[in-house]
Amino acid sequence: MDFKTLGHTCVVGLHWGDEGKGKIVDLLTEHFDVVVRYNGGGNAGHTVQIAGEKFALHLLPVGVLSPGKTAVIGPGVALDLLRMLEEIDALAARGVTVGDLKISDRANLVMPYHKKQDLLFEAALGAGKIGTTARGIGPCYADKMLRATALRVGDLLRPELFRERLTRIVELKNRTFAALYGDHRPEDAEAIADECLAAVECVRGNICDTTRFFYEAMQAGKRLLFEGANGTLLDVDHGTFPYVTSSTTSAIGVPAGAGVPASTLKTCVGVVKAYTTRVGAGPFPSELDNEIGQYIRDRGHEYGTTTGRPRRCGWFDAAAAQYSVRLSGITHMAVMHLDTLTGLERVGICTGYTTPAGPLPGFVSDSTLLAEAQPIIEFMPGWKDDPRGAGSFEKLSRPARDYLARIEALVGVPICIVSVGPDRAQTLIRSI
Ligand code: GDP
Ligand code: IMO
Ligand code: MG
Repeated sequence: MDFKTLGHTCVVGLHWGDEGKGKIVDLLTEHFDVVVRYNGGGNAGHTVQIAGEKFALHLLPVGVLSPGKTAVIGPGVALDLLRMLEEIDALAARGVTVGDLKISDRANLVMPYHKKQDLLFEAALGAGKIGTTARGIGPCYADKMLRATALRVGDLLRPELFRERLTRIVELKNRTFAALYGDHRPEDAEAIADECLAAVECVRGNICDTTRFFYEAMQAGKRLLFEGANGTLLDVDHGTFPYVTSSTTSAIGVPAGAGVPASTLKTCVGVVKAYTTRVGAGPFPSELDNEIGQYIRDRGHEYGTTTGRPRRCGWFDAAAAQYSVRLSGITHMAVMHLDTLTGLERVGICTGYTTPAGPLPGFVSDSTLLAEAQPIIEFMPGWKDDPRGAGSFEKLSRPARDYLARIEALVGVPICIVSVGPDRAQTLIRSI
């Protein structure tokens, strides 16, 4: 894969998130000028490891770790401004200065009451809960769609109007929380306004019309890299609804979420692990709720970057990945965590699903059906050799290469990157 020739590119996860998008975006950043977040918010946790030093980013695009690049928070992001400032401070404390950061004035703000609403709503749902990250994502996007109760970054630039609108919204929220959830700890609109208006002073110079910026950057020949958050199967329209997040997480979310023409993307890199994981509730046909699942969890350190929850682990779901590839128009695939599967006697791949009524035609839209379906698993020999010692794709052990070849054949896109450890350097690039 020759990164230097790539046009505007996006990186998206093909399963339920945490595929290793952060590492791939970091790897690709040096070949691009601008790195853009276009969806989701603080629910994301993108880990990058450079020469042993680990960074976990939630709101800032991974590009902030590479000096000289422009990082953009697009209009489709649910922005928790206070948390983003904390993230910037935490990086500064580690010697990383966030350089050129642009924030869309159109991005919707995640407010303190959104996070409270997220928690209250999940608690009220009981066994029917989604298992959100409690970052206020659903309530923020719900208010965006309701419009009258939403606040955007640009609103912060008109303090009086902001205060006025916020007061009305908080009043409504307090009444709703008391009536629906019996919560009698009212939010203080004045205090929230003070905090937000103080915070915006730290980033006033970063706020702009990013749509115009993208147009001018593309006209000037700059190359854009779009950093997908969450995973395709968490897409609000195309994922395992209702067990999804509230934004368009797939590559088709790039034009709307960033504000660029639909024809912009030339390359779409789909990221998967050599197995599949999921956090939170919802169907997961190839899940291994047994000692093999635990083996993968232990070796892969499969605990959430954002919430610390243990991730559910299962065999690689090729049927789901194929669905995501077709939806997003994926052109290249990156397979992560090949090292994690080392030592297993045999490795499984889910090639489809079956129900008492017969086989399913592939990944389907009906989450209830998917939850009831049994995975069809194809087994292949495992490998004992640590892929970290291979040094190149061609030198991987025979069973490991056969496994990757089978994934490639089932999913239908070439594997261009194989990751064999968390560090930037632990990556095998395939020349195809
Ligand atoms: P993202 O949300 O898609 O960016 O993924 P996360 O950062 O939430 O989760 C991926 C985890 O796997 C992180 O802890 C990475 O450091 C780690 N990781 C990425 N690639 C590899 C790999 O090839 N092997 C191992 N062992 N860990 C990896
Ligand atoms: P990254 O970018 C894994 C999941 C949550 C929950 C559902 C809804 O690191 O891959 P939300 O808080 O968005 O309303 O939660 O979506 N989820 C993720 N799971 N990785 C993520 O992001 C996720 N973002 C949301 O666990 O099941
Ligand atoms: Mg993550």
